Order: sequence, then structure tokens, then C-alpha cells
Amino acid sequence: MRVVRTRAELAGALAGRPGRRAVVMTMGALHDGHLSLVRAAREVADQVVVTIFVNPLQFGPTEDLERYPRDLEGDAAKLATVGADLVFAPSVDEVYPREPVVTVSAGLIGEVLEGEHRPGHLDGVLTVVCKLAHLVRPDVALFGQKDAQQLVAVRRMVADLDLDVQVLAVPTVREPDGLAMSSRNAYLDADQRATALVLSRALAAGATAAGRGADASTVAAAATEVLATEPGLELDYLALRDAELGELGAGYRGPALLLVAGRVGATRLIDNVVLDLGATTSEEH
Ligand code: PAF
Repeated sequence: MRVVRTRAELAGALAGRPGRRAVVMTMGALHDGHLSLVRAAREVADQVVVTIFVNPLQFGPTEDLERYPRDLEGDAAKLATVGADLVFAPSVDEVYPREPVVTVSAGLIGEVLEGEHRPGHLDGVLTVVCKLAHLVRPDVALFGQKDAQQLVAVRRMVADLDLDVQVLAVPTVREPDGLAMSSRNAYLDADQRATALVLSRALAAGATAAGRGADASTVAAAATEVLATEPGLELDYLALRDAELGELGAGYRGPALLLVAGRVGATRLIDNVVLDLGATTSEEH
């Protein structure tokens, strides 16, 4: 496995390599969730490129850009164990040689949910995803379901801007107690980590209600009831949306996302679960 730092080295390492190419884009501080993306990439491609880049464009002015964990050596060691072929870990100047003037807008997708709490975040994500896709030229790009809104935005960018790349979603990887894996979990002390479990417990309650055939408001109420038990969580939102983050009409049946975001201490966490609302339950047969 090679680690390259510049566009020129990347282009050289990619030149003349035949076969299907996958990319897994990351900001480093890799955990098992990232490694599951690489393993999934290995299954669908001949060549797996992993990018590691903490993208300043997607951080707000008061966010954790400076303290975001960085460990290229540790990340490279992990990636070597799961079959990555090439790691592209550019500097900020390499990705943005000039202050970008033209950027990608997530449009309405970037204004709701995360967008209300992190204005401009998804524009920054899409801009770097678009740039990295152009530099790596993958056939397929894999993204985690954990960042559900990011996934919806990336899919929409690919469709609306006719990017020639297939997008694959990989399920969220959880700790044994349910906490969704995230590089930001490293910020949590033991008490905060215990508090953070309320997110996955709330989603599980919503999923259980949905599994029993409950309607949207009952599903949301089941999750809200669990969230209310944990005063240590400063809730940003709990939302039940359709698969493209649209509002649910009355009596909606079909695929849905139950999304939650909030702060535990200074750490902002997000999680979600994919549901099938109004699916026929066994009692209905
Ligand atoms: O999901 C992430 O880690 C980032 O948002 C991404 C897609 C690598 C863009 O910086």
C-alpha cells in the first residue's frame, strides 16, 4: 500500500492501472466504520483508494477543525490490514491551492436538519467530494449510512451534476452497546459516552415501533420518550423523513429515515436508522 501526498504523485500512482477503481473518502482518525467501507470497496473493485483529508471548508468558524484528531501513521497501518491499495493524504494547500471561489451548493438539502445547525457544512462536503472524485476518478465511491444527510446530498450531486460515479451506501457500524462509531467519540469521557448512548437507544425505540407497524407520529413519539430520559443530551433535532429527507405526508408508508443529532458536553453527535414505515406486520397476514 502506497501513501501519496500530492496530486502529481496520485496521478502517477493511478496511471495505467486497469480495472474498477473504488474510493473511500475520509477525514482520517479511522475506526471500524471506516474500515468496513474499505472492506466493502474491496468487494466491488480491483483497486481501492482511500483519501484522508480534514476538509476546512466543511467546518464552521466555532467548530473543531483545529482539534479534529489526526493520525496518518496509525490510519495507514489500519488501512494496510484491510486491503487498501493507495492512500491519498494531501495538505490543505494541495487540495485548495487558491481560496475556492466556485463551490458546490447542496441547495435545499443543505438547509435542513444539519444545515440548520451547521450552515454551509454540506456545501463544503460536496465541494471536496466533487474535487476528490475528479482527482481520483473512481468508478464507485462508498459512503457510510451514519452520515445519512451527507449521503443523500452526495447522491443528489452525482445525479444533478452528472458525475460519472456509482455511489454505494455502507451500513453504520456500532459499538457493542449501540453507540454509532464516529471519530468524534474520542472526545467523550466515560460519563459523556454513557450519556451518548441515548441516541442509539432512542433510534432503536423508534425502529421497534416501526417494526410493529406504528405510524410516523407513534414512531417519533417512541424515540422522543427515550431522549427525554437523558438530561445530559442537548438535542438539536429528532426528525422522521422519507429516504430523500422530504417531509412525510399524512399516512406515509415506505422507506424512511429517523435522524437524531445533539450535543453531549462540547461534542456534537449524529445518528440515524433506516425504517420501513407502515410495512405489513405479521399480524396483518
Ligand atoms: O464523511 C466524511 O468523513 C467527510 O464528510 C468526507 C466525505 C470525507 C468529506 O470531507
